[in-house]
Amino acid sequence: MGILELTLNGRRRADAVPDNLLLLDYLRNVVGLTGTKTGCDGGECGACTILVDNRPRLSCLTLAVSAMHHHVETVEGLSRDGTLSAAQRGFHERLGAQCGYCTPGFVMATVGLLRRNPDPSEDGIRVALGSNICRCTGYVKIIEAVKLAAALHADGLAP
Ligand code: FES
Ligand code: FES
Repeated sequence: MGILELTLNGRRRADAVPDNLLLLDYLRNVVGLTGTKTGCDGGECGACTILVDNRPRLSCLTLAVSAMHHHVETVEGLSRDGTLSAAQRGFHERLGAQCGYCTPGFVMATVGLLRRNPDPSEDGIRVALGSNICRCTGYVKIIEAVKLAAALHADGLAP
């Protein structure tokens, strides 16, 4: 057991956590942020994708204590004053979600992509989302969603 100190969605916090607690379980069960989803629980589906210091990370393969003094972001931290971020609006307007279970992971992977590369090619989008699996959409709408997100970001909306 130790005290985990981190910045989560822009706010500093400290929590007592077991050394073997996964970041996914910390977010969902300790903090109560259930937007990050448990899918395969084994590093294969991307449903648990979050950002650590702006980089996408699979929270089901990450120990919570490894986030010590880092910046962690989840889908709950994206909107500002009720305004959706570019990635969220892209998925909403291009119907990039059906059941929606995979969507938070795709959205976070998209945010990570747009922060690295605000103007990604379609190939670049496919590579960036290559660790995320969707069982519903067939991916066409998801690619369109990310293209719209990039356009909205270019117009000034935060990714
Ligand atoms: S739940 Fe983490 S990759 Fe599937
Ligand atoms: S929208 Fe259902 S798994 Fe992707």
